[in-house]
Amino acid sequence: MCGIVGYLGPLNPKDVILQGLKKLEYRGYDSAGVAILHDGHAKRIRASGKLSALEDKLKSETFNGHLGIGHTRWATHGAPTERNAHPHQVGGVSLIHNGIIENYQEIRQELLSKGAEISSDTDSELVAHLIAIEVEKTQDLELAVEKVLPRLRGAFSIVVIWDQAPQDMVAFKDGPPLVVGLGDDQVFVASDVQALLAYTKKFIYLDDREIVSVKGSQVQILTSQGAPVVKEVVEINWSPEMVEKQGFAHYMLKEIYEQPRSVAAALEPHIQADKHEVQLSTEGLNSESFQELLKKTKRFCIVACGTSFYAGQLAKYLIEKLAQVPVDLDVASEFRYRSPLLEKDTLFMTISQSGETADTLAALRLAKEKGLQILSLCNVKNSTIDREAHIKLYMRSGPEIGVASTKAFTSTLSVLSCLALQWGKVKGLLSQKDENDMVQALLAVPSQLEVVLAYDKYFKEMAHQLRNYRGFLYMGRGLSYPIAMEGALKMKELAYLHAEGYAAGEMKHGPLALIDHRMAIVMLCPQDQWYEKTFSNLEEAKARGGEILALGSGEDESLKMKSQYYLPLPKAHWLANPLLSTIPLQLMAYHLASELGYDVDQPRNLAKSVTVE
Ligand code: M6R
Repeated sequence: MCGIVGYLGPLNPKDVILQGLKKLEYRGYDSAGVAILHDGHAKRIRASGKLSALEDKLKSETFNGHLGIGHTRWATHGAPTERNAHPHQVGGVSLIHNGIIENYQEIRQELLSKGAEISSDTDSELVAHLIAIEVEKTQDLELAVEKVLPRLRGAFSIVVIWDQAPQDMVAFKDGPPLVVGLGDDQVFVASDVQALLAYTKKFIYLDDREIVSVKGSQVQILTSQGAPVVKEVVEINWSPEMVEKQGFAHYMLKEIYEQPRSVAAALEPHIQADKHEVQLSTEGLNSESFQELLKKTKRFCIVACGTSFYAGQLAKYLIEKLAQVPVDLDVASEFRYRSPLLEKDTLFMTISQSGETADTLAALRLAKEKGLQILSLCNVKNSTIDREAHIKLYMRSGPEIGVASTKAFTSTLSVLSCLALQWGKVKGLLSQKDENDMVQALLAVPSQLEVVLAYDKYFKEMAHQLRNYRGFLYMGRGLSYPIAMEGALKMKELAYLHAEGYAAGEMKHGPLALIDHRMAIVMLCPQDQWYEKTFSNLEEAKARGGEILALGSGEDESLKMKSQYYLPLPKAHWLANPLLSTIPLQLMAYHLASELGYDVDQPRNLAKSVTVE
């Protein structure tokens, strides 16, 4: 989704804005632009395509002002051309926007009837027109925004400046995130903190329909009616280095390699390592009260999107197995529109790496309206979902920049495994030995992941063979089924190839017809309770000419004999297998996409944080 940066202060706005936009590239975009004060007017430079195109254009440009805004656009209304790129300028007003204005048709008609000259196909430009009309009347940018805000429907975060007020910057939002960064005699606004970490660690998170009014170095947060709001200033402990590539070719590869550490970090608060016991640590509700809540919860409902949804599926299997609590699982975009029956005594969970996914957030709000307790699992602390939940768990992966989720997924699996263990324990369903064994199994995962990372070289070498397949079917049963779906998602989003994740037992109900020598079958067949059944499915696929790439536990000779390619994973407890089989699938998709020459960190058409529905 679009990225937003605004700056008012003594530094060179061009540098600050470009630096910030680079850090927001991961969000996905197709054009970019800036408007920076120069000789009393905001000079606008825009370019379609990559940020480097804008950077080239900006090389020869100088600016003598200290106020500017910049934007990376992920097209919604209108093609990704320079003409549609932001900022939009109308009568001295320059504006950038992330999101969608739903009532734009009505506003457009009204503006056209008044003779407005509309120069782009975007909904965003219309907001610039509305503000330009109001600022003419009020001669005050903040007042103009207060007049326009009630007219807008949809999801938006917007920053606006005005040539006549070189010390003012106004921003507001309803939906997509916006943060204010506070520095010495300087103020920043951005779509997320990563854009600003090189300049400040102090942030204010805006809530919906709040307005930030910046005048010089003074910052005021106001309600949509202009009443002052007191906000907390939050200090972030992520360092700028955490969002650098640190010598890796791509963020995604760096993030894959971080998993031994990120899984350990995810587990750390929830495990008493010396006793090999689980002790889930939540924020918003202390451990004892949370355990009481688990004890009396009759039903659990998990809602998420994409990779987070697949992690939720694993949680469903684990919680039903270990805690014997029924779990409903939904894709957020379905949940919110399907009149779900939510009974009291249901604990409701959202899983979201970004904490900003629009559908997941809407589902959370729906469940909250129905009076349910909301448990969230996020990576980004202080994200909207994190702030709106009652009880909070964290992935603790550190910033994930690659659009394809990797380390956040394994961290999510780790935390959800602890949740299932804790739940089984408070319900008296786990023996001490089982608890100790499972905790030990989880604690062993980080070092086992180091071993699995050796598949990096393997997939690098075989990527040119893999490119001959026309599609990939990922098969697994039980705990391997969500991992199969996640593996297929990685292949689709990175290598743009047809890939499907299937419950292996479903093969003969349709997908078997797809199998021939050009369809690779990725079979997840660790030694667990589903092993024999999965093995039979593998034989069925092989008998129909499928080429098998199997992942198994240790040197499994039977599996080896049946497969074109066999990947031994460390022998592990069944609880650890999903974590171990995830990494080879990430590496396979990564290397095949690189071999095909695709942009691994920013796959086409995708955005890291999906802040519109
Ligand atoms: O930030 P979230 O976890 O809510 O994001 C949900 C999905 O958009 C996300 O998991 C997406 O499927 C991944 N980028 C896929 O790798």
